[in-house]
Amino acid sequence: MKVAVFSAKPYDTVLLDKASDSFNVQFSFFSDALNQSTVALCEGFDGVCVFVNDEVNSEVIQRLVKHKITHIALRCAGFNNVDINAAKQAGIRVSRVASYAPEAVAEHAVALMLTLNRKVHKAYNRVREGNFELDGLMGFNLKGKCIGVIGTGHIGKAIAKIMRGFGCQVVCCDPVISPALERLGAIYVSLEALLAQSDIISLHCPLSEDTYHLVDETAIARMRDGVMLINTSRGGLIDTQAVISGLKKGKIGYLGLDVYEMESALFFENRSSEIISDDVFERLATFHNVIITGHQGFFTEEAMHEIATAVVSNLVNHNAALGKCDNIVV
Ligand code: NAI
Repeated sequence: MKVAVFSAKPYDTVLLDKASDSFNVQFSFFSDALNQSTVALCEGFDGVCVFVNDEVNSEVIQRLVKHKITHIALRCAGFNNVDINAAKQAGIRVSRVASYAPEAVAEHAVALMLTLNRKVHKAYNRVREGNFELDGLMGFNLKGKCIGVIGTGHIGKAIAKIMRGFGCQVVCCDPVISPALERLGAIYVSLEALLAQSDIISLHCPLSEDTYHLVDETAIARMRDGVMLINTSRGGLIDTQAVISGLKKGKIGYLGLDVYEMESALFFENRSSEIISDDVFERLATFHNVIITGHQGFFTEEAMHEIATAVVSNLVNHNAALGKCDNIVV
């Protein structure tokens, strides 16, 4: 099976080649994202392997059909960037990596929480400049605080467990209740109650029509004053303008982002010599109480190895029955 890998980075090349070593899967790597202007590169391939910011909309899918592509293999969990209905109608298989080291993302969310709370980013710069003053660095103990987890799938469960370990009260919101989490002491509440009770809110639900701008002006108004908001899921869960307004008013006390609504035009590339034209992003980056990382939650050795192995397995098991495995989307 010949597979065109889009948005490929050097680490993808190494890991996917290694994972496909003893299988009949041959990868070709393209650094470009898959979209309408690059879809012609799919000529002569059987499948494509895409990542979070490739644009696999219905137009691209029509072109994939013409190129006789039979499989879209996502090397991530979320599939909001693929028009699933169009793929289904076209008879193209879509696979993803439903779960890979969920602790990778959960631990990154905790890294954002701790950095924001203990102001590690400020302390790092101060000490490097010989400034050992503590003024302005006071944090708070996590023990006893209320953490709201929105979405208790693989990653949400992992973070709930970690936060219970810190001695936090954990409140959750998910249409699917996990008895295992309840046994750990987590409590399921409505979204409104979670927003009102939580000192820290961490987003772990997928981006869909239902969850788009889940955190908007109304949701922010329901939150505690000075709340910490963490988003390692998908940028579109947050109305960025509403969050900026919340930060300016002091309603949001801390913001940790690993994802951003308009990240596809920015993330995963070195833009240090460019002028960033996204004024919304630039405004966000000016707040001292905002930490932004460039979608690196998944980026651990363990997770990357699991992703590469699962992508190859999904491709090899192209004919697996729908419903047999979480990785088969359609
Ligand atoms: P999952 O599919 O295991 O869990 C998602 C959970 O969200 C499910 O339990 C579902 O019932 C729940 N949910 C759906 N709609 C909801 C709503 N309106 N309110 C509350 N809960 C809702 O997914 P997993 O593996 O835990 O990943 C979660 C998200 O994390 C992914 O969709 C993806 O967007 C993001 N992600 C980010 C990464 C990063 O590097 N920053 C890496 C991997 C995933």
